[in-house]
Amino acid sequence: MSDPTGQESQLPSEQEREKARVAGVFDRASATYDQVGIDFFGTAGAELVRRTAPRPGEAVLELGSGRGASALPAARAVGPSGRVVATDLAPGMLAALDALAADLPWLEVRAGDAERPPPGPWDVVQAGLVLFFLPDLDGTLDRVRDVLGPAGRFGFTWFGESDDSWDDVTQRLQALAPAPPASAHGIEDKEDDPGPFSSLDAMHAALVDHGFTDPTTSTIRIRVEFVDVEHWWAWIWSAGLRALLERLESHGLLDRARTEVDPELERRAADGTLTWWTDVRCTVARGPAGS
Ligand SMILES: C[S@@+](CC[C@H](N)C(=O)[O-])C[C@H]1O[C@@H](n2cnc3c(N)ncnc32)[C@H](O)[C@@H]1O
Repeated sequence: MSDPTGQESQLPSEQEREKARVAGVFDRASATYDQVGIDFFGTAGAELVRRTAPRPGEAVLELGSGRGASALPAARAVGPSGRVVATDLAPGMLAALDALAADLPWLEVRAGDAERPPPGPWDVVQAGLVLFFLPDLDGTLDRVRDVLGPAGRFGFTWFGESDDSWDDVTQRLQALAPAPPASAHGIEDKEDDPGPFSSLDAMHAALVDHGFTDPTTSTIRIRVEFVDVEHWWAWIWSAGLRALLERLESHGLLDRARTEVDPELERRAADGTLTWWTDVRCTVARGPAGS
């Protein structure tokens, strides 16, 4: 890294700070991530592995593994003659996955940046609900392409349409909180992003631009039911929107946030609409033709 005078700088770049910020949120979420009695990440991860279809003996790289929603089923699919390397930047996620993988010694859990995939060749590279956090998506796509082996598949999940009846609630929370730091395609502002995450066509075009072939996408709609208001808050604390709650908390605004939105949550609990749905898109592409 060099500054305008040509001297080496020890300061992390804006992009590195952004990655550390996102990883910090997920690290603090890791104790409850996917642990609040809602089958969401497991369903999305199963769809990803169904689409990448790892075979016995294959080598799989998992980027941004979290607690293993797709790394664990991939490890079961490749079996002991195969190999899975799962990477994440959040130590809490890595520790949780390590414990869950105790009976799968061919699944190796390591700290690693999804933007820097380790050398292959990999038969399958998977990235479940993580690409939209990366500041350098273009560079990442190039590097993933380069580590894919012959007939390698790159599969990842990302968000499509979601239940817009919650927009008012999230907007009220966002209005209370001071402005977020600039983020990639991120935790709170993905929908405003005009890039590859804006449509299937844009995503497929980006993949082809980066040398991938035959991109295809399946979409599953995942519905979630919250048993009560506290369950809803536990879910929000357990994943990406935690970033917003942490910002409110750091400014002493959490009680005010609850006063603002709890009446709406109570109303929904009473009339049976304390539910949410989102579409999860699962895109799979192959490496360059002839690779
Ligand atoms: C929404 S979670 C998805 C986790 C898992 N793939 C799943 O489907 O449940 C995003 C994960 O990506 C990780 N992450 C975010 N940015 C990362 C980066 N630059 N490199 C590696 N992991 C990253 C987070 O720590 C978190 O575990």
